[in-house]
Amino acid sequence: MDSRARAKIEELKKEIDYHNYRYYVLDDPEISDAKYDRLYRELTRLEAENPELITPDSPTRRVGASPLESFNTIDHSIPMLSLDNALNENEIREFDQRIKRLLPEEKIIEYICELKLDGIAIELVYENGMLISGSTRGDGITGEDVTRNTKTIKTIPLALRGENTRGRIEIRGEVIMVHSDFEKLNEKRLKHDESPFANPRNAAAGSLRQLDSAITAKRPLMFFPYGVGEFNNKAGIATQSDYINRFKEFGFKVNPHTVVCHGIDKVIEQHLVALDLREKLDYEIDGLVVKINRLDLQSMLGIKSKSPRWAIACKFPPRQETTQILEIVAQVGRTGTLTPVANLKPVKVGGVVVSRVTLHNQDEIDRKDIRINDWVVIERAGDVIPKVVKVIKSRRRGGELEYSLPQKCPVCNSDTFKPEDQVARRCVNLACPAQVKERILHFAAKTAMDIDGMGDKLVDQLVDKHLIETVADLYKLSVSQLQKLERMGRKSAENIIKAIENSRQRSLERLLYALGIRFVGEHVARILTQHYNSLNQLKEVSTDELMAIPEIGPNVAKSVVSFFQNPQNLQIIKELEEQGLNIKTEQTDKSTVLDNKVFVFTGVLKSLRRSEARRLVENAGGRATSSVSKNTDYVVIGDNPGSKADKARELGVTIISEEEFLKRVNKGWQQSKKAI
Ligand code: IVH
Repeated sequence: MDSRARAKIEELKKEIDYHNYRYYVLDDPEISDAKYDRLYRELTRLEAENPELITPDSPTRRVGASPLESFNTIDHSIPMLSLDNALNENEIREFDQRIKRLLPEEKIIEYICELKLDGIAIELVYENGMLISGSTRGDGITGEDVTRNTKTIKTIPLALRGENTRGRIEIRGEVIMVHSDFEKLNEKRLKHDESPFANPRNAAAGSLRQLDSAITAKRPLMFFPYGVGEFNNKAGIATQSDYINRFKEFGFKVNPHTVVCHGIDKVIEQHLVALDLREKLDYEIDGLVVKINRLDLQSMLGIKSKSPRWAIACKFPPRQETTQILEIVAQVGRTGTLTPVANLKPVKVGGVVVSRVTLHNQDEIDRKDIRINDWVVIERAGDVIPKVVKVIKSRRRGGELEYSLPQKCPVCNSDTFKPEDQVARRCVNLACPAQVKERILHFAAKTAMDIDGMGDKLVDQLVDKHLIETVADLYKLSVSQLQKLERMGRKSAENIIKAIENSRQRSLERLLYALGIRFVGEHVARILTQHYNSLNQLKEVSTDELMAIPEIGPNVAKSVVSFFQNPQNLQIIKELEEQGLNIKTEQTDKSTVLDNKVFVFTGVLKSLRRSEARRLVENAGGRATSSVSKNTDYVVIGDNPGSKADKARELGVTIISEEEFLKRVNKGWQQSKKAI
């Protein structure tokens, strides 16, 4: 049995390792998650039955082990150096000049440009292909032993693949966490009342430097190799590019944005390319690392005390800056939500001037203890809007003021309130000019009714001068009214009226989205119009009916129902209808799944009202009648069905349950979704 188990374990280990590699390194899985899980569970079981057969390179060893008291240290056999920085184009050219002075024979230098990954540097040591240790850079001479933690990172091979794995091989590189995982981790931490990490780098470092490797195993870390320490088999390696190819052969995921550049002009171009890339990548980079590609030239240049002469870090402008909060104001949004916004002493962050930053809500202010006059660290990451990372409490001088969102709306002075279960404080007044303006701007936006020229300046004037109160009023405006406004000539007034006129033609889907119902974005609006072909139908829906639609959850359902119960909203819809807007769609794009079939309902339905059931039939292209005849195709029976069920049996009409009915209609929904 032992030898059979041994063979099976070996086979499973190879297979699982291969699928890990396909999934994590190549991003190209070959088998389903379920299949993978089965293989993994089988290996776990066999290893549990035969613990003496467990080897350190088994994929099951990636889950972490019992917590440590503290980290041991590991001395790096060759010091881990750092890099000199170049902060602008001039300094990059000076680096090239220096090199050419030292290597007068070389006319054009071949550089290799790698992204400077903003994470934590580690060294992995392999002996005869097996991972034996992992350590942090530490002070460059001695680091912390994080071996057990590195083993949990799926892009780090436990055993090197390919040839050339004999002897001691030390691989250096960066451990990072991608933005999306970082955000998810922070959300989770907040839920558990733990303080969030300030940035992905801290999250990566904090996760790697965990005494409990089981926690590291749960954190989605990635590793990219970029260099070596001791390296046993250098045959066939003459350049940094060769090393990178070797890393690939070993089974590492290498960064795809590495580029070889001939001459410094190309490097400078590449620096700009990388700066652009920074906005698009899902992980943080803080510069471009430029290295001489040829290893013989590298050795000729050698190293200074802490950094090599053959490489330089061309930094990007920092994304974090410190500045001061001058004031905090409350902005009122379309749904009446009060959002605290900090006005800042303007500061350039990552090349863009930032003078305002949203503080999101009162919870956020309290959690970060943000006060007026505080000095704060501001960050602008990717295309993410700027945010306050933290308050620099050591710079407090006593003049800082705590802030709470006001009890009265700053715009209309009505009361504001915050429901217990929500984070937002809201202004109660639907007619609050701030809400009115935001609603109109949303209505006119490009993705909604697309009314060209309806910007904030114009909307401010229209509302402040009482020319409009609701979106329906837009359609009652005249050229002469507009002409009286500031900076508005006859031509522009005419153009705006024309734009408003054109918007009457917009589809029901756009109109529904434009109404600004909470939680009804473009996607939900599309789904709703697939099931209901007029606003009048939506007036009658129940939350249960809405929730029977795939993708519609309780929040959307409640919000839609309450919107269509509000008399002011109904009045607006009535006026929009009178103004000739598309409050319904033509029947043509309706589902035909029920294909003119005739339905009769009898008994008490569990999840639908009779009127709702009838509408479902009609929207799916069928007909609903009240009495059973030979023309009836289906009788749907609920609880306590009456004589109609007997009649159906008599006439041989098909009888179906409510569940069956919903299934058929739902199938229609799926089909109509696909058609779009
Ligand atoms: S090479 C001798 N390459 O930047 C060269 N470093 O200040 C040593 N880093 O501690 C480093 N991406 O953590 C190199 N592609 C890259 C890098 C990189 C990020 C980090 C590394 C190092 C620091 C150097």
